Amino acid sequence: MDGFYGVCLHFTINGQPVEVEVDTRTSLLDLLREQLQLFGTKKGCDQGACGACTVLVDGERINSCLALAVQYQNRAVVTIEGLGGQGSRHPLQEAFVAKDGFQCGYCTPGQICSALGMVDEVARGVPSRVTEDLAAEMMMLNHDEIRERMSGNLCRCGAYNGIVDAIRETFADGRAEHPKREVA
Ligand code: FES
Ligand code: FES
Repeated sequence: MDGFYGVCLHFTINGQPVEVEVDTRTSLLDLLREQLQLFGTKKGCDQGACGACTVLVDGERINSCLALAVQYQNRAVVTIEGLGGQGSRHPLQEAFVAKDGFQCGYCTPGQICSALGMVDEVARGVPSRVTEDLAAEMMMLNHDEIRERMSGNLCRCGAYNGIVDAIRETFADGRAEHPKREVA
């Protein structure tokens, strides 16, 4: 790489203010992993095709490999390390364990961040390709909706059934309530 086109950027990452010198050509994924040593977010394809690098930015899921870090300055980024509490896991992480939602675990941080963003999309009434009633007051987070909405997150181990079960269990039993969401 020729030269260094550095700028000083500010972020909130997992609730903590971060100030860091970043080359303007650096992806958000590389900033997280290579400069901030947040290795939970994974690099799979590095071209937006697998979802392993999914993080939340102001609550919305994005593929961090496709994002330049400079695009997200002054934004709130949450990675897998920022979920749950001190010494405790997020209910969705617990459900992935209980429902065998992973084997090697490489895709799992992206799956979990993506699922959290996905649930908020449902709550905001964002339809998917399989949503039947676009005018419904409340969208259902059923099996087909979860599969469709999580289709951008690939799992080479094929743990899809456990992943869907974990998401359904987490958002069906009241541990992660959202007022506009309903689970069938
Ligand atoms: S590493 Fe970003 S989508 Fe695959
Ligand atoms: S658990 Fe191995 S790739 Fe998903």
